[in-house]
Amino acid sequence: MGKGCFITLEGGEGSGKTTQIGLLAAYLQNKGIDVMTTKEPGGTEVGQELRKILCTGNKDKMDAVAEALLYYADRRIHLQSKVLPALERGTWVISDRFADSTVAYQYYGYDKRLPKEMLDQLYAITVGHFRPDLTIILDIDPAKGVARSLKRNGSAAVQETRFESRELAFHENLRRGFREIAQSSPHYVLLNADQSVESLHREIVKMTEERLMRK
Ligand code: TMP
Repeated sequence: MGKGCFITLEGGEGSGKTTQIGLLAAYLQNKGIDVMTTKEPGGTEVGQELRKILCTGNKDKMDAVAEALLYYADRRIHLQSKVLPALERGTWVISDRFADSTVAYQYYGYDKRLPKEMLDQLYAITVGHFRPDLTIILDIDPAKGVARSLKRNGSAAVQETRFESRELAFHENLRRGFREIAQSSPHYVLLNADQSVESLHREIVKMTEERLMRK
């Protein structure tokens, strides 16, 4: 069986990635494609523990360097134990975030306070030459997105507000970062997330068909 395609969805807080991933997975399954959805951080058992450390608690409990190391630990385990074996079986994998989030959040978000080479080296060591086949970046005004996300993640049950609680400038930086990243390689697609769930889904399907299904 041939290798599956690896699709990643990226974007700031409250951009609607999770909803769109569910819809895209259902669409592809309808076409007879075997699909697995997953996420970073937290796509594995160890990842769930790392997610708790990274996404809850005081926003200043660690800096960008420490965060990048933990996100890459999560990524390494996720790739080795879940993503690569699935792709090898011919399953398509859709991941809610991947390495571009580390560049956007830990590099651009924190105003480039860590050396970009650190992230390039971490990528080379932990991921190697492997790249997503398609990365869809959902672009949204941070003021709207963060409010949406706080409503969902600030509930007593979730309490994942470590990043949402950062100042608006952080979120504006990372939005600019994602926009720059989108220009850097043809496997990126930047879509406006400030539209209805249905019309955004149609755009995502169109891009997925054009890029991956008409090969
Ligand atoms: P989520 O809420 O989209 O599931 O993502 C969890 C949080 O982790 C979100 O605030 C973005 C952040 N994050 C990073 O800062 N760097 C990363 O590399 C990843 C994967 C996520």
